[in-house]
This record gives sequence, structure tokens and C-alpha cells, in this order.
Amino acid sequence: MSDASSKTAQELREAATGAMARAYAPYSDFRVGAALLSADGSVFTGCNVENSSYPVGTCAERGALAAAVVAGHRSFAQIAIVTDAEEPASPCGMCRQALVEFAPNLQVTSYTTSGAEACWSLADLLPHPFTPQSLHLT
Ligand code: THU
Repeated sequence: MSDASSKTAQELREAATGAMARAYAPYSDFRVGAALLSADGSVFTGCNVENSSYPVGTCAERGALAAAVVAGHRSFAQIAIVTDAEEPASPCGMCRQALVEFAPNLQVTSYTTSGAEACWSLADLLPHPFTPQSLHLT
């Protein structure tokens, strides 16, 4: 298994692009792929999986996170997101909250298939998050 530092942004982008190809998005026609880089260099992918009962659908980012957690990973360095949108898509609010639980210092890079890219820290995307520590305030 390779170290996190050897996993290039390009590899993560390619993994997210591959995941996007498997998105199930017949209702929105908005396909999303995500690739989450674990602290040890492992990569976990997810795609959005929609449902005829619309609220049941899940986002690519939380799909990747669930795959990582069930494999025993709980610390993450980066996530790559790929869409067909005109502008790079940032993670939705629910995904930001899901990710901050495990990776408050996550770097988020979003790509479009046409070559645009944007980069944010999760801390900038979700300031003042509700965290596990929040539950322990007295
Ligand atoms: N979607 C994601 O997969 N990730 C996001 O962060 C934003 C939205 C999906 C959900 C739905 O299947 C489609 O994109 C349109 O909202």
C-alpha cells in the first residue's frame, strides 16, 4: 500500500472520474463521482445513487465515506469530486457535515469533465461545524 503523499492529485481525479461513470442519476441527470484519500494512502470511491423516491438518493461523497469507514478507515486527507457541470461543484451541506466528523482538515478539489477545477478546505466550506466535541459541552 502506498503512502498518502505518493498518491497524486491526478490519481485521485481519475478514481473520481471512474466513479462518476457508475453514477445512477436518471432523475437529475447530474452524475457525481468522488474519491476519498485515506491517511494511509488508500482510496475509496463513491457515486451518487438516486431513487424513484427522491429523498432516498445519496451523494457521491457520502458513498465514498461509507465505503472507507466500513473498510476501517477514519482519517482522510483529500477528496476529489468530478461532475459534468459547467463550474466545479462543491459538496452539499449534508456531505460537508458527514465529512467533518472524520476529516476537519480535509482538502476538497472539484473538477469538471471539461477541465475546470477548484480547491477549498473543508474548514472554509463549513465554518463553525457541529462536531463530536460539540456533544460533550456542558
Ligand atoms: N450530489 C452529489 O452526489 N454530491 C453533492 O455534493 C451534491 C449533489 C448529487 C445528488 C443528486 O443525485 C444529484 O447530485 C443532484 O443533486
